[in-house]
Amino acid sequence: MKFIPLERSHISGIMEIDRLAFPEPWSKKLWIKESAQSLRSYYVAIDNCDVVGYGGGLIAATDFHITTIAVRQTDLNRGIASRILTELLEAAIGMGATDLTLEVRVGNLPAQALYRKFGMVPAGIRRAYYQPDNEDALIMWANDIDQSPYLEQLSSIKKTLACRESVSHD
Ligand SMILES: CC(C)(COP(=O)(O)OP(=O)(O)OC[C@H]1O[C@@H](n2cnc3c(N)ncnc32)[C@H](O)[C@@H]1OP(=O)(O)O)[C@@H](O)C(=O)NCCC(=O)NCCS
Repeated sequence: MKFIPLERSHISGIMEIDRLAFPEPWSKKLWIKESAQSLRSYYVAIDNCDVVGYGGGLIAATDFHITTIAVRQTDLNRGIASRILTELLEAAIGMGATDLTLEVRVGNLPAQALYRKFGMVPAGIRRAYYQPDNEDALIMWANDIDQSPYLEQLSSIKKTLACRESVSHD
């Protein structure tokens, strides 16, 4: 499996996953626009030429704001989202990000567990943020991601994922 920056040819594969993962998937127009914008970082996971996951976000001042992440339903719990996040964070830090934030549905416990693994903690609620069901958003942050001890935490996550990958190939 490889993890590479999003290219336009990945968009149809991304949209297939998006449609099943979210009630309001992004349009093709939005994906094309996002992937061409500056101060963005989007990565895809490719397995056997298929897109099996994607994620990304934008830099606002020194905050990296993750806007979306999802993995193909048949490939969940293989560490793919974690690998995508490590790529995204390294790219964001390279672009000058010092802090990391996102919104997540209050009921989306698997995603919250993923973000907690990356040192993110709840910092507030945006009421009725998600449509069409008016679900609240939990706002999460991780600070000083470009410094110790966060960088050590990131490299420890990477190491664990690399071991997991090599075991699954044995
Ligand atoms: C959230 C999502 C991206 C996680 O993808 P994934 O590739 O399965 O995640 P990983 O395998 O990297 O798991 C990372 C961590 O997330 C947590 N996690 C993942 N799935 C979980 C589940 N079903 N229940 C509880 N925790 C879970 C675990 O802490 C896991 O760490 P571990 O492997 O060390 O136990 C995936 O479930 C998804 O695509 N969901 C639909 C879209 C979505 O909700 N995106 C987030 C929007 S904010």
